[in-house]
Amino acid sequence: MSATEISTPIPVSLDEDGEAALAAALPALLARSYARYSNFTVAAAVIDADGRAHLGVNVENAAYPSGTCAEQTAIGAMVTAGGRGIAKVLIAAGSNAVVQPCGACRQRIAEFATDACEIVSVQDGKATRRTPFWSLLPDSFGPRDLD
Ligand code: THU
Repeated sequence: MSATEISTPIPVSLDEDGEAALAAALPALLARSYARYSNFTVAAAVIDADGRAHLGVNVENAAYPSGTCAEQTAIGAMVTAGGRGIAKVLIAAGSNAVVQPCGACRQRIAEFATDACEIVSVQDGKATRRTPFWSLLPDSFGPRDLD
């Protein structure tokens, strides 16, 4: 079996049509969140620079700090599938509130974010708020600091 067969990203267009189709699918993904302790379910879709979507949910743990955010799960899927640039991150919460990535996930997104990367909040399966990613983490420490 080849690496391409093992990892299965979803092709989407980088325009708003592709985004809308993905946003509509996120509420169903919330059912797969493992939020046994907080009951705060989150689903994320990372669209990579090649127009491929990678999904993730939060995965909590009895040892609380060992839990992972939905964005972290999705970034892991992207990297596993060979993606190295994040164009958009769609985020939906079971509470239906607008949820922005936590501080640690901002740092994780920064590792791969393109200059135009956007965080797209999804409510009721629709994109509601669009935030330029770099406005959430200006002047950050990143890969270039280690070059
Ligand atoms: N959570 C995420 O998955 N993403 C966010 O952007 C915010 C918080 C998760 C972590 C934890 O499982 C639950 O939400 C409550 O904090």
